[in-house]
Amino acid sequence: MPEVYNWQLGRNMSYPYQAASPELQWAFVFNINRCIACQTCTFACKATWTFSKGQEYMWWNNVETKPYGGYPRFWDIKLLEILDKAHTSAGKDASWDTSQRNGTERPYGTYQGLTVFEGAQAEATPTEVALGYEPTDDEWAAPNLYEDTATGLTSKEGDTSLESTGLPEHKSWFFYLQRVCNHCSYPACLASCPRQAIYKRPQDGIVLIDQERCRGYRKCVSACPYKKTMYRPTTRVTEKCVACYPRIEGKDPLALGQPLETRCMAVCPGKIRIQGLVKKNLDGSWAEDRYNPIYFLVKVAKVALPLYPQFGTEPNGYYIPPRWAPKPYLRQMFGPGVDAAIERYIAPDRELLAVQQLFRATQQIIFQYEIIEGPKVFEAVVNGKNWEMFNDTVVGYGKDDQELVRLQVNEVQYTRPAERPNSI
Ligand code: SF4
Ligand code: SF4
Ligand code: SF4
Ligand code: F3S
Repeated sequence: MPEVYNWQLGRNMSYPYQAASPELQWAFVFNINRCIACQTCTFACKATWTFSKGQEYMWWNNVETKPYGGYPRFWDIKLLEILDKAHTSAGKDASWDTSQRNGTERPYGTYQGLTVFEGAQAEATPTEVALGYEPTDDEWAAPNLYEDTATGLTSKEGDTSLESTGLPEHKSWFFYLQRVCNHCSYPACLASCPRQAIYKRPQDGIVLIDQERCRGYRKCVSACPYKKTMYRPTTRVTEKCVACYPRIEGKDPLALGQPLETRCMAVCPGKIRIQGLVKKNLDGSWAEDRYNPIYFLVKVAKVALPLYPQFGTEPNGYYIPPRWAPKPYLRQMFGPGVDAAIERYIAPDRELLAVQQLFRATQQIIFQYEIIEGPKVFEAVVNGKNWEMFNDTVVGYGKDDQELVRLQVNEVQYTRPAERPNSI
């Protein structure tokens, strides 16, 4: 198998195809701390793309409650168990060598374990290109079973009094995990299809299934570790999130030729989402683009981390981890960058605070930002350290360097005049 460089793992890995990096890569950052599980994103996708016969159980965007929830049910636990077995048979340890952290090239260190591709290769008689499984109809049946179910409750049977809880880690906890296809750099779905019906677009890295070529073999359903390819029984072919590509191409009637954020990103009332396009080098690494908000959050501030990087597909979705959940659980989910990311998020520097204002500030994709410094407006002690807040102004620019949005860290408040106590 060819070797490709996976920067999230800090090393080369085996992948069935040679690396072919797109010019730009569709990518997003979700701030888990802000999500209210309103499912507006879920229904925006459904109302746009999956409202037809045969798509009843298809939720390309879903928001599940961790640790118990999952769509399909227990997808990540099942994958981790499969990967774990592969490590045991190969006598390998799925650990990270964090002493090898190196700037933007190897920000989390080096993953020493097996990816889903390497795990499949390590089997005595390899039959698949990636470790995986095909979920049952029952597992696909409900997008958010165990919604709002917390773990770590301390009450005994019949005792309704609970211990109080507080930061840094809650004793009883859950959090919402927002999920769409990650339009991975090394997609397992693409690698597994015997018909070569799945392709990654060179202009924006979006991964699509050619509906004419697909014959419903479902190898992709089994191979995608995130379970984001879904079989449609009425057409007997498989479908997946299309990254709302007409919006990215500026073809939405509202877009006026400018790239728009996808439907699920653009509707989020919790303002947890930002989506963009990052520049890539020919070798697959990210080209430096210091003032692109996604580049800043992932590569500079390093507060946004990939979901299960150990699977090895180099997902292009990044998450700011929740600050109240136990660290071992989060390290398993987002890799070894979790501790530093949470520490930075709790006491953000002025650039990070300003960039956070850009989440869901406009439907158009922000390609660059600029910060205009303002006065100090607040100070406090956070985690034993002095922390200062400045009323900086952040300006977001579009594809053609046009100004899209201008916001202040200190949100402007308007007081309604007394003679108009309400607007009705
Ligand atoms: Fe969370 Fe935003 Fe989706 Fe609501 S729309 S569930 S806040 S990600
Ligand atoms: Fe393919 Fe799954 Fe990656 Fe999406 S998340 S590109 S479906 S492997
Ligand atoms: Fe659905 Fe578009 Fe979001 Fe994909 S990017 S989950 S197609 S709304
Ligand atoms: Fe290929 Fe998946 Fe269709 S494996 S043939 S894209 S169902």
